[in-house]
Amino acid sequence: MAKYRKIGILSSGGDAPGMNAAIRAVTRKALAEGIEVVGILEGYNGLINGNFTELDTHAVSNIITHGGTILYSSRCPEFKTEEGMAKAIKTCEDNQIDAIVAIGGDGTFRGATDLTNHGIPSIGIPGTIDNDITATEYTIGFDTAMNTVLQLIDYLRETCESHARCNIVEVMGRDCGMIALYAGISAGAVIIAIPEVPFDEEFAIDKLKKARANGKRGLIAVFAEGMSANHDHEYSEKFVEKLQNATGIDTRFARLGHVVRGGSPTLRDRLTATNMGTAAVSCLLEGKSNVVMCMQGGKVTAVDINYALILDRMYKGKIQEGDLDNFSPDAIAEMKSTCAFRQAKIENLYKMSYEICE
Ligand code: ADP
Ligand code: F6P
Repeated sequence: MAKYRKIGILSSGGDAPGMNAAIRAVTRKALAEGIEVVGILEGYNGLINGNFTELDTHAVSNIITHGGTILYSSRCPEFKTEEGMAKAIKTCEDNQIDAIVAIGGDGTFRGATDLTNHGIPSIGIPGTIDNDITATEYTIGFDTAMNTVLQLIDYLRETCESHARCNIVEVMGRDCGMIALYAGISAGAVIIAIPEVPFDEEFAIDKLKKARANGKRGLIAVFAEGMSANHDHEYSEKFVEKLQNATGIDTRFARLGHVVRGGSPTLRDRLTATNMGTAAVSCLLEGKSNVVMCMQGGKVTAVDINYALILDRMYKGKIQEGDLDNFSPDAIAEMKSTCAFRQAKIENLYKMSYEICE
């Protein structure tokens, strides 16, 4: 069993509801195992600048109900440089920090791998509302974000119903349509547009016309932010005019934006964060590092970070030369099948949403 005296915990990248629940779980589990915990402030910036806060059991009391992250977050380009990394390692040495738990997305995990390679064992916990990390079926914050979107769309539906209007709602998801897809289906949207599936404008407009012809007054179209990356800048906002011209239906636009990153985490986010946080400390004690805690088949599983990062690149069609060199044919086949499974799940849900939208 590996012995650690003091570990650091940080949150990095876009914040997500449930990050605090993960911070609490890591802290309480580590303290129960006789390990001291320091909170590193503002992600990898705090590691470079030695900006810490001591975390005792009292410091994490009552944070489970709060969105955001008590440790704050930031983007830290300096951490990607050799000088930045050298400063971070020195901070760990000077403060006797033996290991790091980093909560965030794929960028955060790249940082955790670099730390491990420089002698500080690190573990990742997936925290992002987007649910866009291929190795895990679930990321902390996704459920809260979807429920917030759902509530806001329900409000919009009421006014759409009153005025016989359509509302195009754009939701976060830079490269990923999961929030738009799940919340769109659950809100009874007529149109859903996500970057993972080709968007047939004519087909979608036709669906809207049919829904109106069937007597539907209030009409909702949910677009993922990532549609703009595949098409024009502000694609969803520009679609308002297209839709209006083609259907004659009075149409409004709402970009939900960062409001969806806030709020008290749902039960699912608190529970997942607690499971992943305690499992991360257990992994360290078992001598594991350079892993990310993933939800697979409903179970928290430790997945090698390099595997998770390359799998993610494969899913996003961004594999670079040499990426697969260190993986066995069996591992590559497993990666391909995970990607195919994820894509098929999304495509099936997308198809289903259009089958019942009129
Ligand atoms: P997310 O973790 O949500 O993907 P970012 O991509 O912004 O968010 O990454 C968060 C932080 O992780 C970055 O600001 C940087 O400090 C660190 N990071 C990102 N990419 C790398 C990398 N290639 N090497 C080392 N650190 C990285
Ligand atoms: O948390 C992920 C995410 O919400 C993306 O969907 C979005 O594009 C991005 O963060 C925006 O983050 P920021 O404005 O903090 O850079």
